[in-house]
Amino acid sequence: MAKLFQLKNITKRFGSITAIDCVNIDIEQGEIIALIGSSGSGKTTLLKLLNAQHEADAGEILLLQKPISSFNHKQLRQTRSKIAFIPQDLGIVKNLKVFQNIFLGKVGLTSTLSMLWKFLFPPKSEILKVHKLLERTGIADKLYSITSTLSGGEQQRVAVTRALYQEAHTILADEPISSVDPARARSLIKLLIEISRENNLTLIMSIHNIELAKEFFPRLIGLKNGRVQFDGSSVNQAELDDLYQLSEEQLTQ
Ligand SMILES: Nc1ncnc2c1ncn2[C@@H]1O[C@H](COP(=O)(O)OP(=O)(O)OP(=O)(O)O)[C@@H](O)[C@H]1O
Ligand SMILES: [Mg+2]
Repeated sequence: MAKLFQLKNITKRFGSITAIDCVNIDIEQGEIIALIGSSGSGKTTLLKLLNAQHEADAGEILLLQKPISSFNHKQLRQTRSKIAFIPQDLGIVKNLKVFQNIFLGKVGLTSTLSMLWKFLFPPKSEILKVHKLLERTGIADKLYSITSTLSGGEQQRVAVTRALYQEAHTILADEPISSVDPARARSLIKLLIEISRENNLTLIMSIHNIELAKEFFPRLIGLKNGRVQFDGSSVNQAELDDLYQLSEEQLTQ
């Protein structure tokens, strides 16, 4: 099978900090991956390299065999538009209606003026499309609700629906469960995995909860100090202990 992403010796620095250090990872379309590692290990940086928000300082990222670094402005825009990013705070505008938040999934490919027009005079066909997607994520009755009136779990569903509307091939989710209760965290993970499997989407989620990562994700990538510590379908306690062990330097900081 053709690889979707290939990271070849990727390094990303911020000043004197090496956030990602010579990383090699291959990802196939449809893979479901958990990124684990302690705070500062490079998870968010890796996700942002994948959707070309960050540029690597060394190495090469290939998307369907083509180096991202060779893309022109238009190609980069198109690339980003097909990779949904769900940030920790879900990236939802709370005082907009649910359908408007979902329309924002295509903001990367739409001018501000036409987005405004779409907000004010939503085309029936688009509303029908959003309604269908909301049926799949279980909140079709909230189509016209102001998003802030939805529960936290329902707002998570808005973020997932937005990714579907975007017609992305990949969902990058950056700790989207850290601020919710355990039951909601489980249901969001289940929903994301189910939706990804149904649509053959690639899902890469950074996650601090190891138990949930082990239970739901068929591939686990452990990052430590910007390096891949392990990459496989299971992880043992010794590997986990090592992953979270602080270096002497970190302990004395
Ligand atoms: N924009 C930035 N400018 C400077 N340093 C940064 C920037 N982004 C990340 N870093 C640094 O790079 C390292 C990796 O950060 P990153 O955010 O990728 O970690 P993380 O694994 O996502 O952590 P967390 O679990 O806390 O979200 C950290 O040392 C961080 O301080
Ligand atoms: Mg992070």
